[in-house]
Amino acid sequence: MSGFPLLEIRELRKEYTQPGVPVRALSLDFLEAQRGEAVAVTGPSGSGKTTLLHLLAALIRPTRGIIRFDGRDLGSLGASAARWRALSVGYVFQNMNLLPDFSLLENLTIAAEISDVPRRRALDRSWALLRRLGLYGLSHRRPAELSLGEQQRAAVARAVLHSPPLVLADEPTASLDATNAEVVMDLLLELGAESRSLLLVATHDETVKKRFSRVVELQKGGMTS
Ligand SMILES: Nc1ncnc2c1ncn2[C@@H]1O[C@H](COP(=O)(O)OP(=O)(O)O)[C@@H](O)[C@H]1O
Ligand SMILES: [Mg+2]
Repeated sequence: MSGFPLLEIRELRKEYTQPGVPVRALSLDFLEAQRGEAVAVTGPSGSGKTTLLHLLAALIRPTRGIIRFDGRDLGSLGASAARWRALSVGYVFQNMNLLPDFSLLENLTIAAEISDVPRRRALDRSWALLRRLGLYGLSHRRPAELSLGEQQRAAVARAVLHSPPLVLADEPTASLDATNAEVVMDLLLELGAESRSLLLVATHDETVKKRFSRVVELQKGGMTS
């Protein structure tokens, strides 16, 4: 048991330095969340949803403010960021980022290896997830040989394989029809709850938003000063 929240954000700001014009990408003053919670991150295009997920995955560092996960300051992980990410984060990227030259099963087992899941367990868990996600018969196919819905489910499987404490999904339903969108959201919510992960889903889809009891609304324009 810990006295502090799993995720803690205070006065968080991100500014990208472009040649000439600084871009105010994100401003979020306060957020706390606990293990097992599911939070929707919404706001118009350009309001910083992807930037927030990148900060949460320690892919980028804040310009100002605090972003802390399980007591760790994500802005100062330095060289250990990649390692921390591999062990602690499951990321469903907007463009999925599946490895194009590897089969679906290999995509899962390679990710599992990077996250230190023992080989035997990785295989068991991969097959179990493939079955559950309706991808069992497609395990030998490469991403290009799968439909978008199948690729999106595969990306979800890969993200939750190692039961990470933090699961991030960037517009996971954006390229899907209503039926596939519902399936993918069911899976994310179920699998997140099962492993007691903190789940954050960036979305501007009202139907998706309705499924969350907690919603963080980002404003376009980023920093105010
Ligand atoms: N790498 C980058 N360099 C410069 N500006 C960026 C970069 N990434 C995002 N931005 C800008 O930051 C703002 C927030 O972007 P983003 O986080 O992608 O918003 P959202 O995901 O809500 O659409 C936008 O104005 C976007 O153009
Ligand atoms: Mg985005």
